[in-house]
Amino acid sequence: MKIAVAGATGRLGRHVSEVLAERGHQVVAISRATGTDIITGAGLDAALNGVQVIIDAATGPSPDQQPATEFFVTAAHNLQEAGVRAGVRRAVVISIINIDKSAGGYGLAKIAHEDAWRSGPIPVRIVRAAQFHEFVAQLLQWGTQGDVAYIPEMRTQIVSARTVAEVVADIATSEDDPAQIVEIAGPREEDLAELATMLVARRGTPVKVQVVRDPADPDAGRTLVRWAFCKQDAVLRDAIARLASWAA
Ligand SMILES: NC(=O)c1ccc[n+]([C@@H]2O[C@H](COP(=O)([O-])OP(=O)(O)OC[C@H]3O[C@@H](n4cnc5c(N)ncnc54)[C@H](OP(=O)(O)O)[C@@H]3O)[C@@H](O)[C@H]2O)c1
Repeated sequence: MKIAVAGATGRLGRHVSEVLAERGHQVVAISRATGTDIITGAGLDAALNGVQVIIDAATGPSPDQQPATEFFVTAAHNLQEAGVRAGVRRAVVISIINIDKSAGGYGLAKIAHEDAWRSGPIPVRIVRAAQFHEFVAQLLQWGTQGDVAYIPEMRTQIVSARTVAEVVADIATSEDDPAQIVEIAGPREEDLAELATMLVARRGTPVKVQVVRDPADPDAGRTLVRWAFCKQDAVLRDAIARLASWAA
């Protein structure tokens, strides 16, 4: 199967591309680094030539609500228009677990992302994932000022990007008509600040982790995921093994 992965160089997209290639599929890597821009449309028609499935795992540079919404909605429209011209049969879009309960910020941008895909002409399946293991390092990078790392108060059942990628690959290549929304999370509820503290200790980074609650963030302090959504035994087994090795 010929499958285009938008965001193929990202934390998730690189695993999705690898898993699909390992399973013998032809992967078209879409990112600005590979010469295709889903916002300007540059290179998109050529990239989608002969593609049967689009996976949208891209995200823009800003986590703020307005620029993130503009990014996702524009990207969804451009991918759909070019996808229709190319005869694409279906799409898989990556979203965030429990996002329908989100009250602001990036969460609302993701709802707009889902809606933009759902209202388009290409049938879409949505994979809502919990925060990735790899997201903890990203939070540390965003939140470090001097020798303090400010980490938002959040509890969630983090999951490895690899585990999510395997589920995304299953859904993208399945000819069945599965539920339009699939949710995936790791096996255990975790505190992101505790994980960040563990990561800096393991890396020997000389920073102190401090929990912050942004009063402007309506999701601050909420537990975003309370229970495991992994319904397939194999997925749950892999998720447990990967959490154990990430935390080791
Ligand atoms: N991170 C998490 O914990 C998490 C959890 C659940 C769901 N998600 C969702 O999963 C998706 C992927 O997240 P991620 O953390 O893997 O993202 P990421 O690491 O930031 O990667 C973003 C990708 O988008 C590409 N991109 C950005 N602008 C582009 C443009 N104009 N044209 C083409 N490609 C562009 C980037 O490549 P270039 O820079 O080369 O263009 C990169 O490949 C997002 O939809 C996110 O909301 C993330």
